[in-house]
Amino acid sequence: MINHIKNVFKEKFMVKANKVYFSPGRVNIIGGHTDYNGGNVLPFCVDKGLFAAVSIRDDSKFKIFSENFNLEGIVSIDLATSKFERKDRYFDYLLGVIKELEMMDLNLDHGLNICLSSNLPVGGGLSSSAALCMLLLEIINDEFEFGLDCLTRVKLARKVENDFIGVNCGIMDQFVIGFGKKDKAVFLNAKTLDYEYVDLVLDDYSLVLINSQISRTLKTSKYNDRQKETSDALKILQKTYKIDYLCDLNVKDLEQILSLLSDQTLKKRVKHVITESNRVEIAKTALNNHDYQLLGKLLTEAHQSAKDDYEISAPVLDKMVDLALENNALGAKMIGGGFGGSILVLVSNYEITEFIENYQKSFTKEFGKKFIYNIVNAGTGVKLID
Ligand code: GLA
Repeated sequence: MINHIKNVFKEKFMVKANKVYFSPGRVNIIGGHTDYNGGNVLPFCVDKGLFAAVSIRDDSKFKIFSENFNLEGIVSIDLATSKFERKDRYFDYLLGVIKELEMMDLNLDHGLNICLSSNLPVGGGLSSSAALCMLLLEIINDEFEFGLDCLTRVKLARKVENDFIGVNCGIMDQFVIGFGKKDKAVFLNAKTLDYEYVDLVLDDYSLVLINSQISRTLKTSKYNDRQKETSDALKILQKTYKIDYLCDLNVKDLEQILSLLSDQTLKKRVKHVITESNRVEIAKTALNNHDYQLLGKLLTEAHQSAKDDYEISAPVLDKMVDLALENNALGAKMIGGGFGGSILVLVSNYEITEFIENYQKSFTKEFGKKFIYNIVNAGTGVKLID
């Protein structure tokens, strides 16, 4: 990929690239929609992602080209004249990042050429948007020597997504892309931002990611609706409890908490986030104890909860989870924001060849096409690689 991106860069910009950066996609093992509710999450970085080749310009223009959006050609953004308004295109992330940095009085005194390429599976729901935003912040912070620390960049990337793009996401994706490490998952409390690394070398087991091939963006999905529903429920519960977030509530009090809500939909949403945040704690312990039976069971429970209580699954994802369980997986669940993307499956290495063969047959029978899968390992976070 490094040579490839350098060659594309040279072809497009007619000069040599000075540096190459990488920013990974992410998978959340468990902890769906708990982050913006102040709960626990357990994501890791995959070893695939976005690559950027970069060179410095001596004028005031940022020129950006993406192989994945090659019909857009080279997009030129002039620091001196651009209005930095959202255009609903991929380069909004660059506009948003520059706008945020300028609001912090950081001086961008020259332009850059940036060439992007991705080896993330299309429609896989691996948070390519957070990967792009974190990548651009890494590049600009490094090239302009701004000295912004990782947590500051993580918070800025989330701000761009919330304020500029208009998705009310939590901090999980940006955080793991910033702090992720090889062979580690990141156990994070999204309220305190306390985190710890958890070993993700799974002895005789593997995590398999299976792509639903349903693309969706958080912007057009019901993601913001769920954020609104949980913030409405929080306001009601704050009349009784002294809490900042729904996940400040204890799962032991669930029955009493739910009795305070009359709206059936809000009851279900609250039940999901409180039980899910608790499942993340148990999953961390299961991983530390190498208890893969328990981990698998938690994944499947998390999927049920996402499907029935948070209502963020899709019939295709549910069927894919069922097929995985029928083919002897220890557990399976949808990942990410929902409504599409991928499912994550825990499989024993002794059965993996058979699993892949049988799943292929079941998938083709059900959906009439070949299935796309990856056996995933935890890779590093965003960084300069050449
Ligand atoms: C998306 C968001 C995250 C998180 C997940 C769901 O990936 O960007 O903040 O809410 O969905 O867990």
